[in-house]
Amino acid sequence: MLDCQRDLFDIPREVAYLNAASFAPIPRAVRLAGEAGAAVKATPWRIEFGEAPAERVRAAAAAMIGAAAGDIALAGSISHAMANAARNLPAATGSRIIHLAGEHSSNVLVWERAAATAGATVEAVARDTQASWTEAVLGALARPGAAPVAVVALSPLHWTDGALVDIDRIAPAVRAAGAALVVDATQAVGAMPVEVARWRPDFLAFPTYKWLLGSYNLAFLYAAPHRQSGTPVEPNGYNTPDGTPAQGARRYDMGERNNLVALPMAEAAFALAAQWGTARVAARLAWLTERLAEAVAGLGVPDPAGRAGHILGLRLPGGMPDGLTERLAAAGVHAANRRGVLRLGPHVYNDEADVARFAAALRTALAAR
Ligand SMILES: Cc1ncc(COP(=O)(O)O)c(C=O)c1O
Repeated sequence: MLDCQRDLFDIPREVAYLNAASFAPIPRAVRLAGEAGAAVKATPWRIEFGEAPAERVRAAAAAMIGAAAGDIALAGSISHAMANAARNLPAATGSRIIHLAGEHSSNVLVWERAAATAGATVEAVARDTQASWTEAVLGALARPGAAPVAVVALSPLHWTDGALVDIDRIAPAVRAAGAALVVDATQAVGAMPVEVARWRPDFLAFPTYKWLLGSYNLAFLYAAPHRQSGTPVEPNGYNTPDGTPAQGARRYDMGERNNLVALPMAEAAFALAAQWGTARVAARLAWLTERLAEAVAGLGVPDPAGRAGHILGLRLPGGMPDGLTERLAAAGVHAANRRGVLRLGPHVYNDEADVARFAAALRTALAAR
């Protein structure tokens, strides 16, 4: 298992930051890379900033998911990446687009718009909190008499509580239904293994600012080889050089792609991720969430079998008290309230002291209600 990497960050000892699933702190090396990038913008006549950083980052992003560099487009956000996916997955009139109930808006709104334009319907697949998302999605796909499915837009785990969605099982059923598979891997890449060769998605997107410990405003869109002849939502000089589409997934690249700050930050962050290895990071995060679960046993801890290793979603008995996350923050503990679930997302900088601080702060806050 990977040792604690806190020394690489500037996180005061009295802060227990358990919110990487929202917005992760960056290692010092990533911050310095960003600062050096900002300095270039102050004196742009001194340094030529060409294509090379974008291409190095594209290759590093591809390596995280077992893809080829040419299968990756650079995007500004997940919603931007998903807009490109939706634009190039036309749904037939009367067909269904399926997503998980309560899914993040960046993987919902775009499908609602696509469905409204096409005369298709959106089905938000619901489940009982004790049931599995996997069975719910498989059931929706196979429901007798239901409209044909055009697109299934999923995450490998639910963003609110870390409940697993078994894409290994769902992907073949999506293909058998003749539908396209779109994966929002925001809460996965960097924290658990993701291999496009296993799921064979049509499109898959992930950003750098959470589990990959990079900047805001940089995300990636994987496009399967048979989805590389589409049109970008925003034609620009990068994705359409000389008026003709760029090769491969580069045809979906965003404008202002050669970002002076975000790209060097991503490069530094990917270098650390490669040095650590996803499997070792995942093992450390699983160990941390187990320690967290033990420390707050009885406080709405989910069954370990149904959750991802890196997110722990507590459904507190009696519900989420008003102002709980604010009270925890005042005690130096940072977690998120996501649709009534207390979501904990530890990362490589967390340790047993953070676990103890969290458990004590939570018990104190709950005793006061
Ligand atoms: C599952 C998921 N998708 C996407 C996002 C972010 O989307 P965007 O980059 O469009 O802001 C988040 C952020 O919390 C998320 O949890």
